[in-house]
Amino acid sequence: MRFVNSFKDKMTKFNEEHKLKYYIDTMGCQLNENDSLKYAGILESMGFVPGTEEDSNVYLFNTCCIRENAENTLFGRLGMLKKKKLTEDNIYICIVGCMTQQEHILEKIKKSYRFVDVVLGTSCMSIFPEKLYNAVVNSQRKLEYIDVSNTLEEEVPIKYTDKYKASVSIIYGCNNFCTYCIVPYVRGRERSRNPQDILADISRLAQDGYKEIMLLGQNVNSYGNDFTGENEGYGFAKLLQDIEKIDGIEIIRFISPHPKDFNDDVIETIRNSKKIARQVHLPLQSGNSDVLKAMNRKYTKERFLEVANKLKTIPDISLSTDIIVGFPGETEEQFLDTLDVVRNVGFDQIYMFIYSPREGTIGAKMEDHTPYEEKVDRLERLKALYEEMLPKLNEAMVGKTYKVLVEGKSKTNDNMYTGRSSQNKVVIFEADDSLIGKVVDIRIDSQHLWYLKGTIV
Ligand code: 5AD
Ligand code: SF4
Repeated sequence: MRFVNSFKDKMTKFNEEHKLKYYIDTMGCQLNENDSLKYAGILESMGFVPGTEEDSNVYLFNTCCIRENAENTLFGRLGMLKKKKLTEDNIYICIVGCMTQQEHILEKIKKSYRFVDVVLGTSCMSIFPEKLYNAVVNSQRKLEYIDVSNTLEEEVPIKYTDKYKASVSIIYGCNNFCTYCIVPYVRGRERSRNPQDILADISRLAQDGYKEIMLLGQNVNSYGNDFTGENEGYGFAKLLQDIEKIDGIEIIRFISPHPKDFNDDVIETIRNSKKIARQVHLPLQSGNSDVLKAMNRKYTKERFLEVANKLKTIPDISLSTDIIVGFPGETEEQFLDTLDVVRNVGFDQIYMFIYSPREGTIGAKMEDHTPYEEKVDRLERLKALYEEMLPKLNEAMVGKTYKVLVEGKSKTNDNMYTGRSSQNKVVIFEADDSLIGKVVDIRIDSQHLWYLKGTIV
């Protein structure tokens, strides 16, 4: 479905006189961040101008519900905005994104947060201009909720804030139903964008000077599984190969693949590519096969290690992962399997979480006897192992030369510049402004746990 904004002219005319400002508060993952760039694009196409957290008129909350603390963030921020809404004119509050797709949240907003103007679910950008126009111009505040989570919206204006790096969604939704995860319930089924649309977007970005592309999806390597007709058989590996051919793009990244779908085609495409980053995010979640089964992850400890070890045959590859500790029923022994996989693989980055029950998921109904303090202790031990291993992984990079996109001056050291290596490591080095936005070769001189120091060669 093509995005058509029939309220653009009317709203722009209104804004020529009123000059309303907008502020977007984004919670959650990179997919939400990408959606927020689209909301910014829509708002600016209608004449709204960026404001601050203090002086804006339209406040848009793009919400996340992956864990309980993400949910609490919204209600905290709404509470703070309530006074402004009730005492000042021309304040409009919109809530979009994952949280609103949950019925109990919707009820809570309707009951206790009646000052909100617009509530829309995920993939509702086509409806947003109309709802906003009605709220602003016609003072229509209807807390109706629209679920179009199984649509795919194309040609939504997008306002990139970075000049050299851009994220591009390739697939929306998820079919996997991992038992801990709320995403399939709030983001709908998998819908792959047509390769023609993706390639056209990336070619345009390349012409605009973008060097690095981040491909986004809940499960990027099931890209194309839903194709029928002319694109049937076109999958993630082919998409990567076609993006490789676009002149001007120098670095290709993607997040997140699912270990169960990591086939040899994709691994060989990475190996043979000159542009795909030497970094793969491979979410482990647990290192124990029984826990993995209870999580409905569809791979075992052994299969995960097989994929990880295959990937590690690609020179200079770095692996990152997500791990959940304290899934219902996880025993100490099972947790030790997770540590074992971590020790075995050597991840350069681990995003670690304590299990958070999500209403409506299968996991939320499972019995869970592990005390919270024990879960915290597991998290701490996982963190300690990771921090013990990281210096050695970094050390292996010292003396070698890597490609780095120069992003700008270091925030902590005025004389130095910063960028990320293909492995997604932060690198600090001496440079000058003329190199910003360029990909340079840097020899690593030393490691400092969370960053590396190097010299341009
Ligand atoms: N509790 C804790 N962590 C979760 N994640 C997803 N759902 C939950 C949950 N209910 C984590 C997974 C996923 C990452 C994005 O968030 O590790 O990969
Ligand atoms: Fe959630 Fe699993 Fe889908 Fe990832 S693959 S979004 S963890 S259900």
